[in-house]
Amino acid sequence: MKIAVIYDSKTDNTAKCAGWIAAGAAKVAGAEARAFPIGKVDADWVKGCDAVIAGTPTYMAEMTADMHMWLEREAPKLNLAGKIGGAFATEQYVHGGGERAISSILTFMMVYGMMVYSGGGSKGRPVIHLGPVGMSTPIDSYKDLFTIYGERMAACAAKA
Ligand SMILES: Cc1cc2nc3c(=O)[nH]c(=O)nc-3n(C[C@H](O)[C@H](O)[C@H](O)COP(=O)(O)O)c2cc1C
Repeated sequence: MKIAVIYDSKTDNTAKCAGWIAAGAAKVAGAEARAFPIGKVDADWVKGCDAVIAGTPTYMAEMTADMHMWLEREAPKLNLAGKIGGAFATEQYVHGGGERAISSILTFMMVYGMMVYSGGGSKGRPVIHLGPVGMSTPIDSYKDLFTIYGERMAACAAKA
């Protein structure tokens, strides 16, 4: 079972989260996980994935323009229909709009026929409603959240 984590990142916070998610996913038996910045996606590898997770910094309470462009132009080439989808974000401020950015990515995924999963609000702590949001001050304190999210996404993909 294969999982791709695809992200935009300008100052490395979202990249770190992507790495933690991939490491968490790889803890699940039989899972192989790789993280890619949007400019360096291995399309053939992603096409063979069971789950695809996308992450973005929050810009103006939304995903970045680059992530929006990638979802619009490149994601349709990746045979996403039927795969498990998830999304995450980083932000600077506690009400900075990370969940709006996640929601917008999940909307793209639904349009592409993916089956979106939040990471499980019913799974107990950490409670994840739409997807995990990490704050940039400092991002390292969110390592456990993103690692557990990766495990939950891989466990979901393993059952699908
Ligand atoms: C142009 C710009 C717009 C931003 N807008 C927001 C915002 O609306 N809300 C927020 O909480 N943080 C905002 N930020 C902060 C980033 O979301 C935050 O630093 C993020 O972790 C950066 O991710 P990266 O290190 O992966 O590039 C903005 C940063 C930039 C450069």
